[in-house]
Amino acid sequence: MNIRENKNLMAEIDRIAEVAGYLWERGWAERNGGNISVNVTNLMSEEEKRLPAIGEPIALLEPMTALCGHIFFVTGTGKRMRYVCKDPFCNGSLIRLSEDGASFDIIAMQPVKPTSELPSHLMIHNYLRAFGRDNRVVLHTHPTDLIGLTHCKPFLDSDRITRLLWSMIPECRIIVPKGIGIVPYEIPGTLDLARATIKQLEKHDVVFWEKHGILAVGNDIIECFDAIDTLSKSAQIFFSARMAGYEPEGMTDRQLDDLVDAFGL
Ligand code: 13P
Ligand code: ZN
Repeated sequence: MNIRENKNLMAEIDRIAEVAGYLWERGWAERNGGNISVNVTNLMSEEEKRLPAIGEPIALLEPMTALCGHIFFVTGTGKRMRYVCKDPFCNGSLIRLSEDGASFDIIAMQPVKPTSELPSHLMIHNYLRAFGRDNRVVLHTHPTDLIGLTHCKPFLDSDRITRLLWSMIPECRIIVPKGIGIVPYEIPGTLDLARATIKQLEKHDVVFWEKHGILAVGNDIIECFDAIDTLSKSAQIFFSARMAGYEPEGMTDRQLDDLVDAFGL
């Protein structure tokens, strides 16, 4: 069996590769910065779901009981987005959670070890599924301008940073209607980071990790990218006004509220 013959799966992998290319082009993916996971279970045939494991099962730190038997494409740890873009299956792998959700196997194409942020990715997928939210995608990346904002204490406040970025252009509130969650600094790849992120996802689809990066969840990888890209555009408008020596006025509360009715937010 050759999973490259599965057209639907390969179309999804192509979209992941496309976004990996954008992350590199945007300058958000220095060296191995950032990682992606996508739940592809529904794109696999019953036979493909039973693909033999490559190597031994890998135990998870906590069982993921809402993900038993689920299959994900996950970028590899230490892999570069500029290469994920060119060859996703040399720089990522398909993993399958065990029937009890306590471990996973790599099932294709090569034994590429998943991202060090797998605890966050799986815990988020597990949490969202358990609460009936059908988000298939978790995207983590390192946008320079947005990370820069998290180095300023007053902006480490969900309401304040959301209000600021929404007010730079109307599209920002339309494209990121649930605003931004803030996770205070945690060591990358830890369960503490994963748990703090889940808490923010109760209300938001985009979360800023202080002095580290951004994480977005959604059903579509292009839309996850678009949300971060739009926030980055807002941050650039803010910074360019400040660099030109003035405080940007920003949209008024009224102008922001008018968008809610106009776009059914
Ligand atoms: P990985 O190479 O393990 O995916 O780590 C990159 C990263 O951005 C960690 O937060
Ligand atoms: Zn990171």
